[in-house]
Amino acid sequence: MNNALTAPSLRGAFGSVFKIGAAITPRMIFDSDYRALICRHFSSVTAENDMKPERLLDREATLKKGDFLRPVLNFALADKMLAFARENQIAVRFHTLVWHNQTPRWFFAENWDAAPDAPLATPDTLLARLEAYIQIVMEHVNSAFPGTVYAWDVVNEAIEPDQGAPGCYRTKSLWYQVLGESFVPAAFQAARKHQAPGQKLFYNDFSTFVPEKKEALTALLRKLRDENLVDGMGMQAHLQWDNLDAAACERAARAFSDLGLTLHITEMDIHCPFRDEAHQARLAQCYRDYFDMLLRLKRDGYDVESVSFWGVTDADTWLTYFRKEGSWPLLFTGNKDVKPAFDAVLEAAKSMH
Ligand code: GLA
Repeated sequence: MNNALTAPSLRGAFGSVFKIGAAITPRMIFDSDYRALICRHFSSVTAENDMKPERLLDREATLKKGDFLRPVLNFALADKMLAFARENQIAVRFHTLVWHNQTPRWFFAENWDAAPDAPLATPDTLLARLEAYIQIVMEHVNSAFPGTVYAWDVVNEAIEPDQGAPGCYRTKSLWYQVLGESFVPAAFQAARKHQAPGQKLFYNDFSTFVPEKKEALTALLRKLRDENLVDGMGMQAHLQWDNLDAAACERAARAFSDLGLTLHITEMDIHCPFRDEAHQARLAQCYRDYFDMLLRLKRDGYDVESVSFWGVTDADTWLTYFRKEGSWPLLFTGNKDVKPAFDAVLEAAKSMH
């Protein structure tokens, strides 16, 4: 098999069509083979975890400072990743400022209390914390690494039709429980204040192709767009080899883009629990169909700006853990060889030129 370090470069193949990216971890940037692979193939990176609130928030330092509205953040690892990207001319998607998950409960609680049943902060307090958090992160990143971040995932996963709320908001989110739906525009307003020129603000979510969710997302995005708060929609694209409906994804992509928004595919992987040749050939076909769909959108003039995989090789996929079974969902094997899925994506890229 062809090794990823000598195979044709994906970022070269896509050229100016769109950025091609991957979610990466700190371990990868301390490993010379991973560094070489990432630099060869990707023009965009996302931190898989290290720019999420739970990784940045430092409770001990926050308590020590004793300010109940402004938390203290620790950027040590995030900075290493930003520095790696900057050194190698790779652009960064910052993921993510506001999310119900991977944000510690104490951030929502009165007096930063970490007890599991601690009373939640008042809406005014949480709103002030949200604004302070966004300000601290964006000011730090934009002053220490100017020009490195091109997209901010401002709000992740606020919509969940299964929870039955008006507007399909995710009622189990502590953001929603304290602030109601207002936390979404409030987050975008804060991000607008602190964005640097050239940066775009994104709303990001999964299963965006499910009709009911697509409708709710379109309604939310329209509201945000009418207030000039959002620039782009991030479609996560955690898909599956045996039921990938590229036509449904295309309908959703067109609906979001028709609002005048930039489109990013932010977290693509296609779960496949079989590594044999026949299944991996099917996986390759799924990738080809999906990329052909994106390239069709490009040809039709839609602003598809960036496509990112969620992970680099099959050895680092989150799916093994999440699905509780093996998964071989990406373009490179754990040995950093290219897979048929890589060839399929490369062929799709060539068809654009
Ligand atoms: C969601 C989040 C990502 C990541 C994946 C699973 O899609 O947006 O940050 O946590 O789940 O790895």
